[in-house]
Amino acid sequence: MAKITNICCLGAGYVGGPTCSVIALKCPEVKVTVADLSKERIAQWNSDKLPIYEPGLDKVVKTCRGRNLFFSTDITKAILEAELIFISVNTPTKIVGNGKGRAADLKYVEGAARLIANTAQNDKIVVEKSTVPVKAAESIANILKANQKPGVSYQVLSNPEFLAEGTAIDDLLNADRVLIGGEESSEGRKAIEALCSIYDHWIPRENIITTNTWSSELSKLAANAFLAQRISSINSLSAVCEATGADVSEVARAVGLDSRIGSKFLQASVGFGGSCFQKDILNLVYICECLNLLEVAAYWQQVIDMNEYQKSRFSIKIVEALFNTVSGKNICILGFAFKKNTGDTRESPSIFIANTLIQEGGSIRIYDPKVEEDQIFEDLTHPSITHSPELVRKNVTVYQDAYSACEGCHAIVVCTEWDEFTNLDYDQIYQKMMKPAYIFDGRKILNHQQLMSIGFHVQTIGKRI
Ligand code: NAD
Ligand code: UDX
Repeated sequence: MAKITNICCLGAGYVGGPTCSVIALKCPEVKVTVADLSKERIAQWNSDKLPIYEPGLDKVVKTCRGRNLFFSTDITKAILEAELIFISVNTPTKIVGNGKGRAADLKYVEGAARLIANTAQNDKIVVEKSTVPVKAAESIANILKANQKPGVSYQVLSNPEFLAEGTAIDDLLNADRVLIGGEESSEGRKAIEALCSIYDHWIPRENIITTNTWSSELSKLAANAFLAQRISSINSLSAVCEATGADVSEVARAVGLDSRIGSKFLQASVGFGGSCFQKDILNLVYICECLNLLEVAAYWQQVIDMNEYQKSRFSIKIVEALFNTVSGKNICILGFAFKKNTGDTRESPSIFIANTLIQEGGSIRIYDPKVEEDQIFEDLTHPSITHSPELVRKNVTVYQDAYSACEGCHAIVVCTEWDEFTNLDYDQIYQKMMKPAYIFDGRKILNHQQLMSIGFHVQTIGKRI
């Protein structure tokens, strides 16, 4: 395989956009085109307001866009020109049919593979960047082969993405490892080498690991399952702490200082959100069930169940503390994104908590520094969340700043760990709240002693106050 000079990426989302921007930054001699079916998304990538908020992304895009980085809806041209094509399309959980609610829906991956097969006029390396079930590369290869034109050959690689939202640019620039899986043949090894030559521009060779295709696909699901498992483990212990008087932060510190365990991903919270953890574990559970590995499936399912329990436990705690009724009360939710430094709300715990409080009759005010009002209403009125969108529209107001959102409220619920929430003037906020004034810190980011000295009633995760 000759040197790669032209890359195309199908899917201009949270992964395709940042990943290809960093490739363009680090490989100035390579032309990178990110192509998407959505005209609106591509127009946003070509505008001053990018479709996703990600620290550092604007600067990288501004440096490369129009130089060697292009965002386009001309998918045919992008495929024709490229020697290497990333498939970075969405792989959501199926909502209908066999495996509904658990299996990954591969219709977009299949669509992308068919587009490549129908368009390509010369050899292509097709790289699966989307998170997929084990053996998905085989399906892609089958589609490509069944539609192969004379003289065109394909190599399919697996190159899962490990970036986390909110830190995507840093994660891409300083990746712990890059994982590439490919066919164990001379053609397969050449394709792996071609992709390595791209990452070689900035990732040390020892951090680029190569495996067989199925190990690579499974490693991505495994990494997310392990990370989510740590959160569910500490969250399960947060319930024990609340019942006994232990403090989950102290427990996490004591446990995490064991170098075999490590301190990361032990932050007890209102529950994990985001587009990946739940979807990928459900996918793993489904795969295990299909392989008749029922005990293994049940083991990983517990990680999800514990997360559901945590979200529901926290919501119940709020209602109980407010004299067992929030009907007619103003409650301010600070943070709607699933974590700080992103505007992404997919599977955000805030959706669950807001919905519970709405169903209990509360009047909900929401403020998030990066989530648009339309997105909040879209999430809360989605048919999978509520059967009464009118109730949501009647009982939810979105605010543009934290102070006005809190004014006149009976309680504040911190759902996202945005830095600005730690620096608010809580004295001022307290003066303008209904009394007794409550704060429920679902992220353990506030100074609870200080809040209590102001007069707040404070409740948090994993600690009795
Ligand atoms: P996304 O929904 O933000 O973006 C996917 C994009 O693909 C959409 O814009 C959609 O229009 C486009 N698309 C669908 N079919 C297409 C086609 N045939 N041709 C061109 N474009 C097409 O999704 P995302 O968050 O970027 O995730 C993409 C994949 O990466 C998923 O498999 C996900 O599990 C995985 N992943 C996501 C993250 C994350 O943090 N979001 C991290 C690691 C891995
Ligand atoms: C995750 C993986 O980290 C990343 O490697 C993968 O590529 C995509 O999925 P992401 O979902 O973007 O990334 O963010 P992450 O930082 O993992 O947080 C996920 C959720 O877990 C968030 O809701 C976060 O607040 C929560 N979390 C994280 C905790 O509750 N406690 C922790 O200790 C860490």
